[in-house]
Amino acid sequence: MSGAKPFYVTTPIYYVNDKPHIGHAYTTLACDVLARFKRLDGFDVKFLTGTDEHGQKVEKSAEVAGLSPQALADANSANFRELTKVLGCSNDDFIRTTEPRHIAACQALWNELLKRGEIYLGHYEGWYSVRDEAFYNEDELKAGPDGQKLAPTGAPVEWVKEPSYFFRLSAWGERLLAYYDREPDSIGPQSRRNEVMSFVKGGLNDLSVSRTSFSWGIPVPGDESHVMYVWLDALTNYITAVGYPDTTGEYAKYWPADLHMVGKDIVRFHSVYWPAFLMAAGLEPPKRVFAHGWWTNEGQKISKSIGNVIDPLSLIERYGLDQVRYFLLREVPFGNDGDFSHRAMINRMNSELANDYGNLAQRVLSMVGKNCGAQVPQHGEFTAEDRELLDAAAALIGKQRDAMDRQLFHEALEALWVVIRAANGYVDRQAPWALKKTNPERMATVLWVLAETVRHLAMLTQPFMPTSSARLLDQLAVPEDQRDFRHIGSHFALKPGTPLPTPQGVFPRLVEEGAV
Ligand code: MSP
Repeated sequence: MSGAKPFYVTTPIYYVNDKPHIGHAYTTLACDVLARFKRLDGFDVKFLTGTDEHGQKVEKSAEVAGLSPQALADANSANFRELTKVLGCSNDDFIRTTEPRHIAACQALWNELLKRGEIYLGHYEGWYSVRDEAFYNEDELKAGPDGQKLAPTGAPVEWVKEPSYFFRLSAWGERLLAYYDREPDSIGPQSRRNEVMSFVKGGLNDLSVSRTSFSWGIPVPGDESHVMYVWLDALTNYITAVGYPDTTGEYAKYWPADLHMVGKDIVRFHSVYWPAFLMAAGLEPPKRVFAHGWWTNEGQKISKSIGNVIDPLSLIERYGLDQVRYFLLREVPFGNDGDFSHRAMINRMNSELANDYGNLAQRVLSMVGKNCGAQVPQHGEFTAEDRELLDAAAALIGKQRDAMDRQLFHEALEALWVVIRAANGYVDRQAPWALKKTNPERMATVLWVLAETVRHLAMLTQPFMPTSSARLLDQLAVPEDQRDFRHIGSHFALKPGTPLPTPQGVFPRLVEEGAV
């Protein structure tokens, strides 16, 4: 892929104290769709995901489970790795923070920060939440139902008093604001950008970046009674994976990352601490951080204690992988919070996939199969209506690029469905089944226009629904080496006379038990 533009996209790395759930699947899927889109669009993509394995939270969970932290991490990291496979993810690497390459990168970054006078030894006294792995100021806390102090997220906090190394975050406020100004796309959506900027404008305290009261972490070089703060460790994974501290090779090609995709709860770590650490070490901050919203389950907050955690594997078993991929990215405007409900899942699966898209493809392919000798039909002159549909299909790629660059997956899908609905309307109006007797040449033109529209659609749904789209492209006899976006234009339009295989439905309807 020499000469191709690099594109580096990352998911957050997942804590191994927990089993994978729908929230984790969501972030990973969004990144996979983007990675696939960019590959098809000719970029040299690196897509990274992995697991966050150190810290007090993991240490405590291991204790409760009666396991060593390493054994817990091994077991749960394997679950997350398995999830990426089940989701059909095309990640190029899977990083674990317990790997030697990562420990080396963290220690190198630490030494660089120390050398530059950005880290100093002091004493921390204040509030800490193990669940959030975050420090809080007194004025950020709220009162719980029994008057106990809670983090703004609702997590319990404890008073911590111990020797600690600090990062001089307080000195980075102005330079962070200058970075946000210089890179208007550095934080999305806009509401999160405003939040981060006002947090930074409010003034920053130095950040405690080591702990001495537990040991499950990366040792501070030269002072092994300390382990690194788990967020300094975790964030560094993004540069470990491109070879840091070696800044030639992959680092030179892929850094700074094009996009760190995160949930809205961890924006501050990615848009304040991380760029400050990097700039302080003389490295480039990321180009963009995008924060998506949170899912609830049938209207309720998802939590282990309520017992309503949604297991992505059982969803996929019940509805199918492409259906779940489609639903998660279609149901909620990306960036907003959303609610998962089985009713909504079934509705979208049946109405948009089976009825709109599936029926369009099936009707067109079976008419071509029956009436055109199972070959791509020969078209004649195009009417204004033919051109209108073909032009709308051809304009899709530009719309997809635009929406993808802003992570507006729901808009990208809506643009595709506008054309799907237009094509269904066109079939009804042109009524090719009636033309069969009266004007077979016109019938062939109409079917060609439709088949060519389906080719565009199937090319562009590949990032979202790779398996179903491949099956549609197989049925249109589009060669495998002509499915990237260089081949989308009219020069590569379907060739009349190309033999086509027997059509088969691609998007099944879900018939509910008990339904008539
Ligand atoms: N380990 C840190 C990230 C370190 S990145 C250098 C972490 N891990 S996590 O496993 O707790 O969460 C990972 C991601 O899952 C976060 O982006 C979070 O927003 C997302 N989600 C967790 N629950 C979610 C929902 N209910 N809905 C959508 N996403 C949610 O944070």
